[in-house]
Amino acid sequence: MIMVTGASGQLGSLVHHRLMERGLSPLAGTRAPERFGDLGRRVDFDDPSMLDLAGVSTLVLVSAGYDEDDVVIAHHDRVITAAQSHGVGHVVCTSLTGAGDHLGFALAHRWTERRLQRSGLAWTVLRNGLYAELFGALAAPVDAVVSAPFGDGALAAAAREGLADVAAAVAADPSAHRGRTYELAGTTTVDAAGLAAGLGATCSPTSLARRRTELASAGLLPFQPAMLMSVYSSVAAGLLAGTGGDLADLLDVPLAWADRPRRRSGLSEGGQCDEGEVGAQPSSSRGPAGGARCPRCSWSRRARPTGRRPRRCGGEGRSGRPQPAGRVLPAAAGVPRKVCR
Ligand SMILES: NC(=O)c1ccc[n+]([C@@H]2O[C@H](COP(=O)([O-])OP(=O)(O)OC[C@H]3O[C@@H](n4cnc5c(N)ncnc54)[C@H](OP(=O)(O)O)[C@@H]3O)[C@@H](O)[C@H]2O)c1
Repeated sequence: MIMVTGASGQLGSLVHHRLMERGLSPLAGTRAPERFGDLGRRVDFDDPSMLDLAGVSTLVLVSAGYDEDDVVIAHHDRVITAAQSHGVGHVVCTSLTGAGDHLGFALAHRWTERRLQRSGLAWTVLRNGLYAELFGALAAPVDAVVSAPFGDGALAAAAREGLADVAAAVAADPSAHRGRTYELAGTTTVDAAGLAAGLGATCSPTSLARRRTELASAGLLPFQPAMLMSVYSSVAAGLLAGTGGDLADLLDVPLAWADRPRRRSGLSEGGQCDEGEVGAQPSSSRGPAGGARCPRCSWSRRARPTGRRPRRCGGEGRSGRPQPAGRVLPAAAGVPRKVCR
């Protein structure tokens, strides 16, 4: 039996959904098991007694949230320990692209990879590229100006949808991917100027120093400004622009998501679509497309059926929707203003 952790989160819910679409009945390991009926199993990385992995043959370990390194490391250590003691056959672990080593949240991912590789378990590591949705949120225009300090740096942005497709494909046939570490940066790049142009906005990047000052008074948790600054710096320096990697090859598995309706009930209810990430902006700040939610970079060419127009913002932004936990929301000045936990 497959279990997906973080199943109520944005990536985990997509992975769970993809596995369901494959005709599998994956367990949803989550702190909110009631959302999944018979498939829900309470999993809480803070509580070893809530890490029942009995009967799980393949565990999709979706990395757990944004936090201090020691907290994330302890979370992942507990899960891997539980996998060992329950005899889990294979762990598919989401991690971070190697190009992201300068990002503030890289350390815990690298620690987890090593812990897993030394665990004696069969494993596959999915080194996910920086989310297109995160870039879109941080670079969202305000009053038709993109001010995020990305400079002219480009990002090989990866959409959660594609990353979820890969995770589901690997989890459905784990032995074919045993001992592999996949680099899953996006297959096309986006930059702030391109995003602005696509939205009919102008691009006027602020400086890192100015953004750091703004973040200091944004009411964030202590570790968050440094993490966000590392995203700006790494993109601005071009460190995350490389599109080479395994994503395109792995997306050659049967891929149907580009044809699926965007608003499945399970997605919209939980707020896992990317639209909501910028939906909290005042309507006056929206571009002509009606919302700044779509970074237009996130879908690989190979994922698009031939002859189809690429999907892009359709004016369906959902202002004011409640946000799921752990999201960083852009504020009126383009500064993340709120982190729901
Ligand atoms: N590639 C990137 O750009 C990037 C950027 C930032 C972070 N990440 C990593 O990618 C992960 C998934 O991204 P996402 O967008 O899906 O994040 P998300 O929506 O915040 O989901 C993270 C999920 O982690 C689970 N979690 C957190 N603390 C937990 C705990 N104590 N016990 C059990 N589960 C816990 C929760 O699952 P339940 O609600 O189901 O309990 C939560 O929904 C993040 O957690 C982070 O580690 C990636």
